[in-house]
Amino acid sequence: MQKYADKYLKLDPWRIIEEGFDSERCNVSESIFSLGNEYMGVRGYFEEGYKKGEFIGSYFNGVYEETKEAAALHYKGIVRDTHFMINSVNWLYTRIYVDDEILDLSSSEFDEYKRTLDLRTGILNRSFIWKTNGGKHIKLDFERFVSMGSPRYGCQRIAIKPLNFDGEVKVVMGLDFDVLQKSTSKKYWTTIEREALEDYIYILGKTSFTEQKVLSASNISLDNTHESKVVENEDFIGYELIINGTQGIETKIDKVVFNYVEKRKEMGADEVIKAASKLVNNFHSICYDKEKEKHIDYWTKVWDKFDITVDGDMDNQQGIRYCIFQMHQTYHGEDPSLNIGAKGLTGEAYNGHTFWDTETYCLPFYIFNNPRAAKNLLEYRYNTLPMAIERAKQLDCDGACYPIATLNGKEACSLWQHASLQMQPSTAVAYGVFHYVKLTDDKEFLYDKGCEMLVQICRYLATRGDWSGQRGEFGYFGVMGPDEFQMMVNNNCYTNYMAKKTFEYTIDVIKDMKSNCPDMISSLVEKVNLLDDELKTWSNMANRMKISLDKETGIYEQHEGYFNLPHVDIDSIPVEEFPLYNNWSYDRIYRNDMIKQPDVLMFMFLFRSEFSKKSKKVNYEYYEPRCIHESSLSPSIHSIFASELNKHEEAFNFFNFATRMDLDNYNRNTNEGLHTTSIAAAWVNIVYGFGGLKSDGDMIDLNPSIPRSWNSYSFRILYKGNVVEVFINKTDVKVKVLEGTKININVYGRAYEIGKEGIALEIPVGARG
Ligand code: BGC
Repeated sequence: MQKYADKYLKLDPWRIIEEGFDSERCNVSESIFSLGNEYMGVRGYFEEGYKKGEFIGSYFNGVYEETKEAAALHYKGIVRDTHFMINSVNWLYTRIYVDDEILDLSSSEFDEYKRTLDLRTGILNRSFIWKTNGGKHIKLDFERFVSMGSPRYGCQRIAIKPLNFDGEVKVVMGLDFDVLQKSTSKKYWTTIEREALEDYIYILGKTSFTEQKVLSASNISLDNTHESKVVENEDFIGYELIINGTQGIETKIDKVVFNYVEKRKEMGADEVIKAASKLVNNFHSICYDKEKEKHIDYWTKVWDKFDITVDGDMDNQQGIRYCIFQMHQTYHGEDPSLNIGAKGLTGEAYNGHTFWDTETYCLPFYIFNNPRAAKNLLEYRYNTLPMAIERAKQLDCDGACYPIATLNGKEACSLWQHASLQMQPSTAVAYGVFHYVKLTDDKEFLYDKGCEMLVQICRYLATRGDWSGQRGEFGYFGVMGPDEFQMMVNNNCYTNYMAKKTFEYTIDVIKDMKSNCPDMISSLVEKVNLLDDELKTWSNMANRMKISLDKETGIYEQHEGYFNLPHVDIDSIPVEEFPLYNNWSYDRIYRNDMIKQPDVLMFMFLFRSEFSKKSKKVNYEYYEPRCIHESSLSPSIHSIFASELNKHEEAFNFFNFATRMDLDNYNRNTNEGLHTTSIAAAWVNIVYGFGGLKSDGDMIDLNPSIPRSWNSYSFRILYKGNVVEVFINKTDVKVKVLEGTKININVYGRAYEIGKEGIALEIPVGARG
């Protein structure tokens, strides 16, 4: 792999530290220091403003604007109306003046700059000494957090200490709707109301087409004498504070912000203000320190239960904790109408959209850390089933076709190659149901909602596929699998394999329901008008599904004709040509055997219990050298294969990339936002790769190995209500139940019943890196 780390931040097991500020890395650092709480997210931009190139991003999950793609008007099935997450109110807005000089690190002189994100507490701090042109020195400490304890609250504290003078410092802190979208330089908000009340100020903004509304309210408290007045203009309301500074004495300003989102178009401004004011009426009783306590308490509980430790490798220790932190703050299952964008709530790239990444890469993390969140992610798909049914119709199919990219359930990807040819979002939802139910036994969800989704997905798969006349085989023509470098191909092996498994699983679930809950299946049959003949057809399609395997070599052919494609030696591509989509013409990428990300290896990973080591080996050795990992989701899957095949060095190298993808800006595009779903893949990498977890079979199965440079590592999983700890050092594996009773699992292929006393086994020699 050509990509390499761009080291900038300091190493620390629990903190992300920037010491000294590099303006070239301003936007990368803003992404890295992003905070969120599922409901909202905010980039790590400087609240006081940074004129030269700041990227202000303040997002609310599910708040978006729409646009129409006029060019596509005449083609049926091509997406016309897209939607995208928009930058919203800048609730951290601050300006600081001394003697009419404004603080702006892009032009002001400063010293002792340090920014720290403490992963244990979720608190972001930044401090420096500002040296004004007039020779005044002021120590500034900024602190902020986005409350995990109360989703709508964001909190900001500024401590100001004059170091060599007594005198005034002017601070303006407010709520600003005069914000632009970075990618389009357009403004999507109109302010429809703003007001200063006794306790607090508020501002209400509305988007143009979707007419979604965000009301932001804030109060401010100070521990020093000051003058205060309300300042406002069209899109802004705030407090102007004149602080009487005394040399060596710190003044703290606390700002608590309450952000209220109303997504329903039909709700008028009055209704929103009424609803929000009911919730903020007790503003005077909300205090910064109390919120902070709640917030820290949340994180303490997370780390107590689900930390991953790595002894002997600070890079990876810091990296994996950062990944865990980002996963929890992006999504933790508060609200089933929300999902996870490929960039979380940290930037505009990928438009805030949710992809198949959720079920494929993120769901395992939640299943084993927070099953309620896992369920809510599937609920989201259930709630958006009507849109998936609509989409299938647009594509001349029956059933439900889930979107490749979406915020509200409708397809939002206007690239027809992806939106019309990729079926993996639908099969991923089916896989998600299968995987979640297998590991949680949540049959209630399966019977009540899961099965309905499965039936509709099968209908789509049955009508999107075709019989090949000559061979009597069923398959998919004109598709694109996960590898987006092979477009409009026939019988992509991943698509066919996943469709086959979806048919089979659905038929099994229906059988199970017939014997265990006949009433529920009868009402489902009635609700969706399911015919017995359909089941027969699906079974026939599954049995006759074309899965192209070269019997001599054991290699699955990625799609028909793949083996005959011209070969590209990817190691000979100069590193300056990456990313290829910027440097190679679009069609040049598509006409050779180079692949963007795992495709055959992907279905072999999802159903890893079903393939022999030999089969994994030949396929890995064939496809890995053809893969350029242009997708950040790619390296971790390769690392998992390499671990299983005892290729420890390769496994470790791929893993380094996955855990520190953003901290070390491997892809050189962290400025656009974090690779949130790849961050989930890093967790998967440790647990499924080094831990060797297989979770698709009848029992979960651990096969741990340890990288050469590590002394030990440990991870925890929540499995059927038990918290299980797995500890691995250079010679032994210890597995025990920390909370709960007993579990039945396989370790290195042997079945054990494990309780609190746990078991200790020797690591096989081949598994020692
Ligand atoms: C990958 C897709 C992925 C998307 C969002 C693309 O580059 O090829 O598989 O769903 O990014 O992460």
